[in-house]
Amino acid sequence: MKEAIIVPFINHKGGTGKTTTVSNLASMLATKNKKVLLIDTDAQANLTSYMLGYEFDADDTFNAANLLSGESGEPVNVRKNIDIIPASLDLSMCEVQMQAKVLREQILKNELDKIKAKYDYILIDCPPHLGVMTINAIVAANHVIIPTTAEPFALKGVQAINDLVEQLKPANHNLDKPMIILTRFGRRQVNKLIYDAICETYANNVFKTIEKETVDILNLQAQNQTVESLSDSNPTKENWVALTKEFISKTKA
Ligand SMILES: Nc1ncnc2c1ncn2[C@@H]1O[C@H](COP(=O)(O)OP(=O)(O)OP(=O)(O)O)[C@@H](O)[C@H]1O
Ligand SMILES: [Mg+2]
Repeated sequence: MKEAIIVPFINHKGGTGKTTTVSNLASMLATKNKKVLLIDTDAQANLTSYMLGYEFDADDTFNAANLLSGESGEPVNVRKNIDIIPASLDLSMCEVQMQAKVLREQILKNELDKIKAKYDYILIDCPPHLGVMTINAIVAANHVIIPTTAEPFALKGVQAINDLVEQLKPANHNLDKPMIILTRFGRRQVNKLIYDAICETYANNVFKTIEKETVDILNLQAQNQTVESLSDSNPTKENWVALTKEFISKTKA
């Protein structure tokens, strides 16, 4: 039986490219005929707005707060091969309620066990803090990915996530060390210095493909489009083709 590979994208620092990475990877995987479920666990609902439009109201559909409350329902179809369980305003309250539950770190895993046979990948967009939602995503994961910018304090953030994953090992024995994707990578000298420092510390766990900073990403997001809509000769498209290939190979069981 098919079982989805479950991958949360985690960084408690805000604006490190979590949502950008999840959305564009999903779109590229979909073009390769992979069935992808997105879960927006961030109350900011950026992924939801990006994939479904700013007018979309998740309160009217089955959403992440419903999922985490143990209700069943159908994810929303975005387009061919991509479904999403959107974030709703209730998600913040849901997170507070989860804190009080017995085995609170297992809630998401238990729910995903019921639906993972329908997908090739389940990508989870996490909020920018290491709370109960992120802990649930780590416990449910086959692989953890840390999107990080190559800026001062990046190493400290990556270390904190590594420590958290290590602490959660008893709840998810088979989980490897997190993998790191460098995002919003520009020409600044500091980017190169921090990149070298990250590679020195985390060596094989760093993606060789780096997400380059480009206005293409901003333009696409402004139009609710993702990188698969760029022409094949566009360097940003080439960048994401390479990233997707590496993602598929690195997340193979
Ligand atoms: N490769 C890129 N080139 C240019 N801009 C980018 C790139 N990747 C992300 N950005 C921009 O950086 C900002 C932060 O990206 P994004 O929202 O994906 O981060 P995030 O980690 O999900 O943030 P949050 O922690 O708030 O959820 C956005 O404005 C996005 O448009
Ligand atoms: Mg985000």
